[in-house]
Amino acid sequence: MSLRETFERQRDRRYIMFGGKGGLGKTTFSAATAYWLARHGHKVLVFSVDPQASLSDIFQQDIFGKGAVRIMDNLYAQEIDADSHIKQYQQEVRQKILDMYGFDRVPDEIEHYIQAASAEPAMEESAIFDAVVDVVVKGDYDYYIYDLVPLGHALYYLSMAKVYDEWINRITKLREEMREHEEMVARLKREKTTEEDQILNELQRIKTRINLSSSILTDKQKAAFYFVVVPEEMIILDTQKAAQLFAKFEVPIAGYIVNRVLPSELASQDIPQYLRNRLKMQDRYLDKIRSVFGKNVVGYVPEMERDVTGLKMIEKLAGIMYGNGTK
Ligand SMILES: Nc1ncnc2c1ncn2[C@@H]1O[C@H](COP(=O)(O)OP(=O)(O)OP(=O)(O)O)[C@@H](O)[C@H]1O
Ligand SMILES: [Mg+2]
Repeated sequence: MSLRETFERQRDRRYIMFGGKGGLGKTTFSAATAYWLARHGHKVLVFSVDPQASLSDIFQQDIFGKGAVRIMDNLYAQEIDADSHIKQYQQEVRQKILDMYGFDRVPDEIEHYIQAASAEPAMEESAIFDAVVDVVVKGDYDYYIYDLVPLGHALYYLSMAKVYDEWINRITKLREEMREHEEMVARLKREKTTEEDQILNELQRIKTRINLSSSILTDKQKAAFYFVVVPEEMIILDTQKAAQLFAKFEVPIAGYIVNRVLPSELASQDIPQYLRNRLKMQDRYLDKIRSVFGKNVVGYVPEMERDVTGLKMIEKLAGIMYGNGTK
C-alpha cells in the first residue's frame, strides 16, 4: 500500500502523527502532509510542542506560542509554548490554594512544594500533554497532524495517563509531607477535609481528560502513526525497538516512510566512487528495511536538492510523497 492509499482507504483516521528519531524528517513530513490535505479541501491543523519552533522554520513564519496561525487556505499551524503552559499551570495551582484556604498569599512552605513539583519531569510532561489535549479535544479541524518530538519523548506522551498517575501519587505524598509542618497542620485543621482534596480532585479531572485524548491518539479507527526512518543501520535498529514499545502501548502504526533516499538512477551516471559506495551501502539498508518492516513500508522519499523550507519546497515534497492528483 502507498502512503496515499493509507489515507484514502482509512478516511476516518483524522489524527495523524509522525514519529521517529531526531532529525529524520518528522516536521518535514508533517508539514508536507498537512499541505497536501489542505490543498484537497480539508481543514488541517499541524501542531507540535517542540520548543525548537521547527514549524516556524519550515513555514518561514513566526508562530511559536501564538495559537493556531493561518498558513494558507485550510492550513493552520500551531506551536505550543510548553514553558508558558507550565507557568500557567503553577499559577492555577497557587490560585486554588489561595481560594481554598483563604490566604492572601501562598505560604512559603506551599510555594516551595509547588516549585518542587514543577521541577518534576512528570509535571512538565503533564503540562505539555494538557495543552495537546486542549488542541485535539476542541475538534475544529478535519485533520490534526501531530509533529512529535523525537522518539523517547513521544512515548511519554502516549503513556501519559501513567505519568499522571505517578504525578498524582507524588502530589498526594507531598500533601502528606506538608501536613507534617506543624504550622500548616494548625491552619489546615480549620478547613474541611473535602476542601483539602480539591487539588487532588482537579488532578483526577485532568487525568480523565488525558485518558480521553490518549484514547483518541491510540484509536485504531481514528488515529494513524507513521514512523520516519532513513536507510542507516542504527536508525533501523532503533526504530525496530521503538516500534515494539509502541505496539505495547497499542499505538496504531500505519506505516514506515523511508526518507533521504539517494536516487538509484545515479548509479548509471558518471559519479565519484564515494557516491557509488554510498549507493551500494544504501541498497543494503533498503533491503534490510524491506525485510524488517515488510509491507508496512508505505513510501520512499528522495534526498532533495536542498532543505525543505517554505511553501514552494513543501509543495514539491508533498507532490513527491502523495502524487499530484486529487484525493
Ligand atoms: N528528503 C529530504 N531532503 C532534503 N532535506 C531534508 C529531507 N527531509 C528532511 N530534510 C531536512 O532535514 C532537516 C531535519 O528535518 P526535520 O526537521 O523534518 O526532522 P525532525 O525529525 O522533525 O527533527 P527533530 O527530531 O529535530 O524534530 C531539515 O533541515 C529538513 O529540511
Ligand atoms: Mg521536528
